[in-house]
Amino acid sequence: MAVSVSPDSPGVTHDRGYHRLRIRHVVRETDDASSFVLEVPPELATTYRYDAGQFLTFRATVDGRTLYRSYSMSSAPAVGDQLAVTVKRVPGGAVSNWMNDTLHDGDVVEASAPAGVFRIGPAERDLLAFAAGSGITPIFSILKTVLSTTTRGTRLLYANRDADSVIFAAALDDLQSTYGDRLETAHHLDVERGFATAADVEPYVEAARNADSYICGPAPFMDLVESVLLAGGVPAEQIHIERFTVSEPVEVVEEPPATAGPEQAAGTEVTIELDGQKMSAKHHPGTTILQTARQMGMSPPYSCESGSCATCMAKLLEGEVKMHVNDALYEDEVADGWILTCQSVPTTPTVHVVYGYEGN
Ligand SMILES: Cc1cc2nc3c(=O)[nH]c(=O)nc-3n(C[C@H](O)[C@H](O)[C@H](O)COP(=O)(O)OP(=O)(O)OC[C@H]3O[C@@H](n4cnc5c(N)ncnc54)[C@H](O)[C@@H]3O)c2cc1C
Ligand code: FES
Repeated sequence: MAVSVSPDSPGVTHDRGYHRLRIRHVVRETDDASSFVLEVPPELATTYRYDAGQFLTFRATVDGRTLYRSYSMSSAPAVGDQLAVTVKRVPGGAVSNWMNDTLHDGDVVEASAPAGVFRIGPAERDLLAFAAGSGITPIFSILKTVLSTTTRGTRLLYANRDADSVIFAAALDDLQSTYGDRLETAHHLDVERGFATAADVEPYVEAARNADSYICGPAPFMDLVESVLLAGGVPAEQIHIERFTVSEPVEVVEEPPATAGPEQAAGTEVTIELDGQKMSAKHHPGTTILQTARQMGMSPPYSCESGSCATCMAKLLEGEVKMHVNDALYEDEVADGWILTCQSVPTTPTVHVVYGYEGN
């Protein structure tokens, strides 16, 4: 199965397709992480323009299953890097291990255009970065960019299991030598001091009140940093978080449906078309269209499940939905009826969506 919305689908004016990119180099960063430097052909240069902090979504066939996974750029256009992502193995994970184990120089992968809202804002404040494990990937891109293009001061708290698992250790040392006191790096190693605690984050709170804070890492680490910053009076809008792990199912506060009627009382009916297959089912309150498709036994495309990659987009042919988060679709796409199924819950008695819409 390879459902994707191709760039030439009616109503899609942005490049939502998957393109084949050749791997220039695989760089073994640590025992369990590799960077993949990608070759972008000249005709796709515009498509793959990106900002530091953004990611690509890869489509891979692993053990006969088509899977979609997002990986952030560790490269930074501002310093002339070639497009690169860095992938750390997740124990038991399908795609991260497949990429680390099987991909080599010259192989071809499929990736969508860059996306994501974890980007450097226009403010001239200092920048604090909190990274753990593979969370360093977008943070590294952001740090290189801020250091090379602004005069802002930066501080990095970087947590890892042990010294051998520190991705970009040497490159961070190089940045330190180049930028001196504009970068302050603190490494936290779990083997020495256990997991990071509030006491490790508190020294940053005062500076964070007048800075932008970027956080990326495992959920408990991000939650810790965010809660300490917020408790210390750091304004929420100065805290930027990139979540790598799939979020909990969208919590739905039931609202009266826009066109409530007898059918709604009996249960909303959701019809989904995917890969030439059309199925209908009663909607379970609190679940998204994506979850409904999976409950029907379909295999819809998805990756982030947080509204930021557009892998799950489908066209709404009938009915209405409420989209909880949309950090991926453009206004004209929404106006044309495209929705992020991972964020959409029905608000009318019947809803009909089609993935990979290709005609009227
Ligand atoms: C915006 C974004 C950017 C990202 N950037 C990066 C990046 O730069 N670098 C990076 O390394 N990662 C990044 N990620 C994470 C990445 O997309 C993947 O989620 C990660 O690599 C794991 O994918 P996987 O296929 O290897 O694991 P999966 O196969 O998805 O498995 C994940 C975990 O679930 C467990 N699991 C799988 N199936 C089951 C099951 N049936 N029952 C119980 N447990 C199960 C696995 O054992 C594993 O622990 C990013 C994610 C997002 C959303
Ligand atoms: S799966 Fe990423 S936006 Fe829905």
